[in-house]
Amino acid sequence: MTSSAAGSVRLGAGAVILGIESSCDETGAGLVRLTDAGPVLLGHELASSSDQHARFGGVVPEIASRAHLEAMTATVRTAFRKAGVRPGAVDAIAVTCGPGLAGALLVGVAAAKAYAAAWGVPLFGVNHLAGHVAADTLEHGPLPKPALALLVSGGHTLLLRIDDLAGGISEIGSTVDDAAGEAYDKVARLLGLGYPGGPVIDQLAATGNPTAIRFPRGLTGPHDSRYDFSFSGLKTSVARFVENTERDGGVVPVEDVCASFQEAVADVLTAKTVRAARDLDIGTVVIAGGVAANGRLRSLARERCEAAGITVRIPRPGLCTDNGAMIAAVGAHVAAAGARPSGPLLSGNPAMLVSTVLAD
Ligand code: KG4
Ligand code: ZN
Repeated sequence: MTSSAAGSVRLGAGAVILGIESSCDETGAGLVRLTDAGPVLLGHELASSSDQHARFGGVVPEIASRAHLEAMTATVRTAFRKAGVRPGAVDAIAVTCGPGLAGALLVGVAAAKAYAAAWGVPLFGVNHLAGHVAADTLEHGPLPKPALALLVSGGHTLLLRIDDLAGGISEIGSTVDDAAGEAYDKVARLLGLGYPGGPVIDQLAATGNPTAIRFPRGLTGPHDSRYDFSFSGLKTSVARFVENTERDGGVVPVEDVCASFQEAVADVLTAKTVRAARDLDIGTVVIAGGVAANGRLRSLARERCEAAGITVRIPRPGLCTDNGAMIAAVGAHVAAAGARPSGPLLSGNPAMLVSTVLAD
């Protein structure tokens, strides 16, 4: 580790970074080692409170915060065991400080501050959204500059131009209403499938007919925004279909509804991503966030990017959904570039902008 007079820290090859994630309902801890080819994953551990939210059809913030508090130290300890490193080997800590649920973020930030103070290492408060994109570098190595990222999670649907994961991220497009993952969760709820909706819809869709029902593709008209998304009309359309079927005394074809809904989501996401990559002349696309675990999105993205001559990178499903390793990866990128650690007043920022990778 080298430190400059300005108080910035630059980590070199061999440095170990602990990442802590607690922005929603997953408590994550991950360890990465910095190499000349970027961060590599040593090991990570997750604890989820999703079962406790299932009966409410969505995340209950107070339950999530309490669950983080209960799971944090054991999760960190297990991550160390899995990674095969001791706490004394850690050179820096990165923690999600936003965006996310205020109380949930607070637990991770407080824990990370305590570990950083106890071990005498720098602390970086980093952006969760940058973490989703950085997760891909753990699997596929450094990103070409620039790259285009499609970030699809429970709270966000963003098209991003990534010039530098350590601090050069700009928004190209976003959803004007529901996020893609939110649409999955809401459709699952109205079909009585519980929370989270993505995995169960993904599974049921596998045996359904994706062309059974033609659901609307939001913002795809000739005069609509080229890079923005809309999923609330799709969700409403699914609700109307279910209501009408039941009113007419029919049985809702759940697998077909799932497959047709999923087709509409994957169609719009991939079409707009390929369009943006072409318009901006960017040759590499990264798809990240929880919805990037989706089977149909992955296959359609590969198909359409290949046809357009675009390289597509998607992390394995276990690194798409929230985890601590992705946060450690952002920490590795900022620390390798030389960055000023976050100060003692670091706190959670529920509305942290995607363009801010590192908090003061
Ligand atoms: O990134 P993430 O783990 O947490 C947030 O930052 O929001 O994303 C969670 C979202 C949820 O809406 C969940 O339903 C969705 O990702 N998701 C999926 C799949 N797995 C998780 N959506 C579609 N297909 C999946 N296989
Ligand atoms: Zn996330």
